[in-house]
Amino acid sequence: MIEKINKYIDDINKLDFSNKKDVDFFNKNFLGKNSVLSELFIEFKNLPNENKKHTGKAINSLKQLISKRQQKTNLAKTDHNPKLDIDLTLPSNFEPTGTLHPITKVQSRIVDIFQRVGFSLSDGPEIEDDWHNFSALNMPKDHPARDMQDTFFISKDPDYLLRTHTSSVQTRYMQDNSPPIRIISPGRVFRKEAISSRAHCLFHQIEGLYVDKGVTFADLKTMINYFVESLFGKEVKTRFRPSFFPFTEPSAEVDIYWGLKTETDYKITKGTGWLEIMGCGMIDPNVLTNVGIDSTKFSGYAFGLGVERITMLLYQVEDLRLFFENDLRFLKQFSNLD
Ligand code: DAH
Repeated sequence: MIEKINKYIDDINKLDFSNKKDVDFFNKNFLGKNSVLSELFIEFKNLPNENKKHTGKAINSLKQLISKRQQKTNLAKTDHNPKLDIDLTLPSNFEPTGTLHPITKVQSRIVDIFQRVGFSLSDGPEIEDDWHNFSALNMPKDHPARDMQDTFFISKDPDYLLRTHTSSVQTRYMQDNSPPIRIISPGRVFRKEAISSRAHCLFHQIEGLYVDKGVTFADLKTMINYFVESLFGKEVKTRFRPSFFPFTEPSAEVDIYWGLKTETDYKITKGTGWLEIMGCGMIDPNVLTNVGIDSTKFSGYAFGLGVERITMLLYQVEDLRLFFENDLRFLKQFSNLD
């Protein structure tokens, strides 16, 4: 029996698996139900015990050889399939993949910085009513501050408009939740503005809101400094400038130093070298009252930052319009950023 096994081993070793005849011969004799192995196993059972050890070893070697060669025939099958006439081992064609827009990437980075210190995400509608966008924020119908935000009105009654700022999410959130509140809300906002290198009719803001007992302006400053340093690095030059917003008192604007070397620097920064990135302040007690929060018990701060402005600063982009034109030559320059 050992000779028979050795002959099978010899037969297999002589086969050339690149030709079909040999592969068929192998499949027929050594694989499946009619494999010589089945016949050998039957014979093996009837052997006297003293012969079993040797013969068993030989059968095992044959079995191993068969399974090795079987893998080879499988590979041979996938290597070249004449029906498909393709070679699956060749490297694939390069298919370009899309990437996220730079504004989306910067927005996620900003959100991440605030989430790290306990802010959670909140959302609001882009089509808003007058009360949430203006009146609740201390800007009644005839308030002159409404002029600061040229508005796309949609309908008069009910009075719908495209939200002019993400501050409308503040009102919605405070109406539905009680303090402590700590949220950020990224989103698109719309203004009827002349389009230029500094302004667009559609842009992105991130609103921040913190309401609790005993919140002070020092807390606001600490948070803004933490944010600016996390995003731009410790060397960044920042300044707080007193300002006015109807919904905060006191109010401030935060500027970042852009530089004042080229003509474009002059144009972008209106000759100051500084670029404003956000408005902020302590929430006006009237706003808290409007949304049903007791302003004698609670205080809070809010801020609203411009994502386009910040992206321009981070990557020295000189014209805001580039973000909206979808020119691949521009967008591709950001494809490697995380
Ligand atoms: N909503 C303001 C704007 O779009 C920005 C702003 C200023 C938001 C002060 C705030 C704030 O939350 O406290 O110009």
